[in-house]
Amino acid sequence: MATVTQPRPRTAASYQTKMLIDGQFRDGVEGRTFATVNPSTEEVIAQVSEGTAADIDLAVKAARKAFDSGPWSKMDARDRGRLLYKLADLIEANIDDLAALETLDNGKPLKEARHGDLPLVIDCLRYYAGWADKLTGDTIPVRGDYFCYSRREPVGVVGQIIPWNFPMLMVAWKWGPALAAGCTIVMKPAEQTPLTALRLGELAMEAGFPAGVINLVPGFGPSAGAPLVDHEGVDKIAFTGSTEVGKTIMRNAARTLKRVTLELGGKSPNIVFADADLDAAVDGAMLGLFLNQGQACCAGSRLLVQDKVYDAMVERLADAASKRKVGDPFAPDTDQGPQIDDDQFRKIMGYIEKGKEQGAQCVAGGGRVGDKGFFIQPTVFADVQDHMDIAVDEIFGPVMQVLKFTEVEEVVKRANTTDYGLAAGVWSRDIGKAHDLAARLRAGTVWINCYDVFDAAAPFGGFKSSGIGRELGHQALENYTEHKTVTVSLK
Ligand code: NAI
Ligand code: MG
Repeated sequence: MATVTQPRPRTAASYQTKMLIDGQFRDGVEGRTFATVNPSTEEVIAQVSEGTAADIDLAVKAARKAFDSGPWSKMDARDRGRLLYKLADLIEANIDDLAALETLDNGKPLKEARHGDLPLVIDCLRYYAGWADKLTGDTIPVRGDYFCYSRREPVGVVGQIIPWNFPMLMVAWKWGPALAAGCTIVMKPAEQTPLTALRLGELAMEAGFPAGVINLVPGFGPSAGAPLVDHEGVDKIAFTGSTEVGKTIMRNAARTLKRVTLELGGKSPNIVFADADLDAAVDGAMLGLFLNQGQACCAGSRLLVQDKVYDAMVERLADAASKRKVGDPFAPDTDQGPQIDDDQFRKIMGYIEKGKEQGAQCVAGGGRVGDKGFFIQPTVFADVQDHMDIAVDEIFGPVMQVLKFTEVEEVVKRANTTDYGLAAGVWSRDIGKAHDLAARLRAGTVWINCYDVFDAAAPFGGFKSSGIGRELGHQALENYTEHKTVTVSLK
């Protein structure tokens, strides 16, 4: 089933595999490399320069220089915006190549990379390009003979650490607001998916970003991410990834009192009332969980279905899951590619076993697909109880939990009984009830009669253990700016 016959978008020698520091692509100081693997075939795609503390130090110094005294620090805001527009245009001109590279390194279906991720990447950069010259302060009516105003200033050098599930989209979410605000960047891409970030680094150089404004240091969390968090020359850390690492980063950043924003995990409730349009709810539940092989922080992984329609929903979901086409992500009819790596594959298979052991009913999938590549059958568990591990933990894979509820009050309480608070879905034709739930659910995003609708203008982020701060929208610009108050005596 998962026979993989993938086109190579380019020859191995032509991937950008070196780190980007101070405008130059170069090897790491220690000369180490690591393999990036194609998750469909388990074959090595390329060896990539591995950054360590010494490279982070060079990159931070370059970013510091660009921020403190380079051409970037003197550039007019509108010209920063023009560079972002230029980068977006270059990405658009290379859209097919970038989509293929993302699919090769990450395993997501090419149709999703090309028509999902990349349009969002381009839109995000253009959205923030437009903000660059619109970050204004206030004039403030203070008491006495004073003129008081505020300025928005860039926070400085920012360290950005991103995961592997949406590699290019995470670059766009991080670069867009930081560059619009006038910050400089040291980014560490995920060790599983460094290739598209490095290619975007090439395009950023082509667009004309000055040396040191964007630095990219591929490598591992403890040896490259941690030194970035520790570095005295970094003013702020923006992180997307696991809640566990997010907590470590917040602790470590406290030593230098860096600003920290975190976008972490979730166990989002997706609530289907009996009065919902069930066709739409089935489609929304499938998308909400199975998108990106289930590797989404906002996955609707607790599907709470009202008792009257529970059996009908379970039947339809099991049917829809078993019809999903799993296999070669380059094939045009593939719905689901492989999981990112062996660690994730094992973690997910472990949860499937736990679900079975703890008494949930596996009504679709439940096994591996093929024996090469990290492919897992789209899996649906019914009769899931709130205390089961599969109903509590973030699985981050193609495994849906369907739970039954009866009353509105009950479902609100159960939906909110989680440490997480990233997203939620509500499916109902009763618009009053839907809005009431939207207000009562403790989540950063609530989708009503839809799911996974993203827009660069709409802020995204978590309550509780799902994170701190918001990405996207004008809110993300807060993360990358300081407010300065200036008071002038008029006497
Ligand atoms: P992770 O949180 O370990 O990795 C995310 C990024 O953080 C990577 O770039 C990694 O190199 C870096 N990192 C790891 N340890 C670090 C440290 N001590 N200091 C600085 N940077 C560090 O996530 P991982 O191991 O890839 O996946 C584990 C679980 O995390 C997944 O099963 C999933 O539940 C969750 N996850 C959530 C994501 C989200 O979008 N919120 C994305 C990826 C994973
Ligand atoms: Mg990890």
